[in-house]
Amino acid sequence: MKILALETSCDETSAAIVENGRHVLSNIVFSQTALHARFGGVVPEAAAREHIKTVNYVVDKALKAARLDVDDMDAFAATLGPGLIGSLLIGANTAKTLSLLTGKPFLGVNHLYAHVASNYLESDLEPPFLCLLVSGGHTQLIRVTDYAHMDILGETLDDAAGEAYDKVARMLELPYPGGPNLDRLSRHGNPDAFDLPRARTENALDFSFSGLKTACLRKTEQALADTSDDVSGDISKARDRTRADLAASFQKTVVDTLFEKTLACAKQHDLTTITIAGGVSANSALREKFLHFVESNPAYRLFIPRMAFCTDNAAMVAASAFFNPISGDVGDEVFSRAPASFPSNT
Ligand code: KG4
Ligand code: ZN
Repeated sequence: MKILALETSCDETSAAIVENGRHVLSNIVFSQTALHARFGGVVPEAAAREHIKTVNYVVDKALKAARLDVDDMDAFAATLGPGLIGSLLIGANTAKTLSLLTGKPFLGVNHLYAHVASNYLESDLEPPFLCLLVSGGHTQLIRVTDYAHMDILGETLDDAAGEAYDKVARMLELPYPGGPNLDRLSRHGNPDAFDLPRARTENALDFSFSGLKTACLRKTEQALADTSDDVSGDISKARDRTRADLAASFQKTVVDTLFEKTLACAKQHDLTTITIAGGVSANSALREKFLHFVESNPAYRLFIPRMAFCTDNAAMVAASAFFNPISGDVGDEVFSRAPASFPSNT
């Protein structure tokens, strides 16, 4: 079964064709980063307008790259939510139009399910498994019992991991997009330079990053003020070193927390297959930490998406449409900006 899927929930316009939920025939991603960089974040209205301009182009490219025609498709899919309303509508309406024109089904997809499904792409992953979903809007530990059933065992009580990355990156005067830039900067810093707080939560599998974010703000202000008293005379070098040390210390705190809670969850729920998904799964330190762990613990299997499937892309939407479509209609979900819920599959 070949599915042509669209992803337009935020600032990536993407179209992909995937066969049987796993085999990627094409995956075209058009990033709007350059457009939003000058505003320091995603501007919803500008994002929607850019999706309109680009959506037909990415659909054409996906078909050409796979050497297929719309009539070769068995279904059309799109992300229905959560995401930016104006942006979601572009992908959903495009996929619905293709469905009406060809008489093939339209499959709606939940963006979070799609991130979970990114690990099915080009792999032999099968449930049951544990998924650490870490994106700009979500941080959740999800138990996937079978293709259609998932439950949340832990989640953030405040900021998502990606959101914390983006906010701390801004404090460190890094350009948008914050997460990958902070990741790069942290490689030049000392991760033990600053002692940052790790939140304790009532449910040990929940997360909380707002205290860490505030601590980073205080340490940044203090440390950068201190460097201006640097008597060596080379203030800008001292500031760069401090910023790199703060980035590295922040990254270590977040990565350690994500890793420790995931492992505790896996042990508690007797799950030996661990997956990571969402934009933050592109993080170099997080990937290394988990890879290093499974190298010395062969009882565990680890799946991390290829870099192209970590941040938003349509291939994962096609995988999710194959394994776990949520709806055949553009219902309320597409108009909702409420926090993501996991709609019941029953
Ligand atoms: O999954 P995604 O593309 O969009 C959402 O569904 O939110 O995730 C985007 C998030 C952003 O917060 C971005 O800063 C973060 O993923 N991100 C990273 C890295 N690459 C992307 N965070 C840390 N390190 C990275 N290398
Ligand atoms: Zn996403």
